Amino acid sequence: MAILLPGGAGYIGSHTAVELLNAEKEIIILDDFSNSKPIILDKIKQITGKDFKFYEMNYLDRQKLEKVFEENKIDAVLNFAGYKAVGESVQKPLEYYTNNISGCLVLLETMKKYEVKKFIFSSSATVYGEPEMIPITEKCKTGGTTNPYGTSKLFIEQILKDTYYSDPTWDICILRYFNPVGAHESGLIGEEPQGIPNNLMPYIVRVAAGILEQLSVYGNDYDTPDGTGVRDYIHVVDLAKGHVAALKKLDQEQKGLYIYNLGTGNGYSVLDMVQAFERATGKKVPYKIAPRRQGDIATCYADPKKAKEELNWVATKTLEDMCKDSWRYIMKK
Ligand code: WQD
Repeated sequence: MAILLPGGAGYIGSHTAVELLNAEKEIIILDDFSNSKPIILDKIKQITGKDFKFYEMNYLDRQKLEKVFEENKIDAVLNFAGYKAVGESVQKPLEYYTNNISGCLVLLETMKKYEVKKFIFSSSATVYGEPEMIPITEKCKTGGTTNPYGTSKLFIEQILKDTYYSDPTWDICILRYFNPVGAHESGLIGEEPQGIPNNLMPYIVRVAAGILEQLSVYGNDYDTPDGTGVRDYIHVVDLAKGHVAALKKLDQEQKGLYIYNLGTGNGYSVLDMVQAFERATGKKVPYKIAPRRQGDIATCYADPKKAKEELNWVATKTLEDMCKDSWRYIMKK
C-alpha cells in the first residue's frame, strides 16, 4: 500500500518524502513542477537510495487523478500541493482558492470514490489569526485570517471537519505548521522561493550570500522583548518527521479527526534570527529597520504539548541547525 504525495517535489513535500522512504514506506509523488523542479526527484532518490513512482500532473486533473487511484493501491494521502505565498495570494485570490480549495476537493472526492479515507492536511498557524493566547494551543479559536492563502487553509480545515462529521470512517489529521525553515543536512534539497523571498530565513540567507543587499526588519516597535516580531521557527526535517508520526497515529488509533500544532514551542525575534545566523555561519547580515509589514502580528509560537503526548513527536533540531542547513543548501546550489 502506497502513500500518495501531491506536491511531493516541493519544499515540505520533498523532505517528507525522504522521511517516509527512510521509514520504509512506499510513496507515489504527483507534481506539476509549478513551484519545484524535476531534479528534486533525483535528489530524494540520492538521499534515500530508494525509488518511487512519479506522475507529472496537476492534482486538479480529475481524470488523471482517478487513473492514479486505479493503477495503485493507495492507503493514505498527504497533500502538499497548495500554493503558499502570502503576498501573491492577495494579488491572485482566485488562483489560490482554485488551486488550494478546488484541488483539495477533487482529491477528497477521488479518495471517497476509491474508498481511501486516510488524509493528512498541511495547515498553518496562520489559521489562528491574531492569537487568543501565547503559546498557542490547538483549542485556541481560529479565524481572522488576513490573506487568501490563510483563508484557504481555514476553509479546507472546515471542509475536512464537515467531511469527517458526515462520515466518521474518514481518518483525518490536520497539521498546523508554524514557521518551517532550514534544509536537509545533505544540502541536496531545500527551499526554492521564486523571485525575491518574502519569508525571513530565505531572505537572511540571500543577504549573507551577497545576492541581496540588506534585510529590512519589518518593525521594531512591537510589544516583544526587542520590539521585532517573534515566531516559532521549526526545522523542515523535524516537520517532515511530524508527518511520519501523524501517519503512525492514523494507522494505530481508532478513526478520528485530529489536529496538532507542529512547532518547537520557542519564540525567536527577527534580531535573534539575524544573530543566530551570524553566529552559526560567520557571515554578516546587514539590516535596516523598516516600517511594519501589513498583516503581521507581534508574537506567534506554539504549545507543542499535544503532539508530544499523542504523536510522541518533538522537534529536536536547534536554531543553529536551521541556520547552518539553510546556508549549506544555498552554498551547494
Ligand atoms: C517572520 C518574521 C516578519 C521578512 C508566513 C505565513 C505563514 C507561513 C510562513 C507559509 C515576521 C519578519 C520577514 C523580512 C522581516 N506560511 N520579516 N523581514 O509572516 O510569520 O509567516 O510564512 O508558507 O502562514 O504567514 O513568516 O518568514 O514572512 O516572517 O522582518 O524580509 O520576520 O515581519 O516578524 P510569517 P515570515
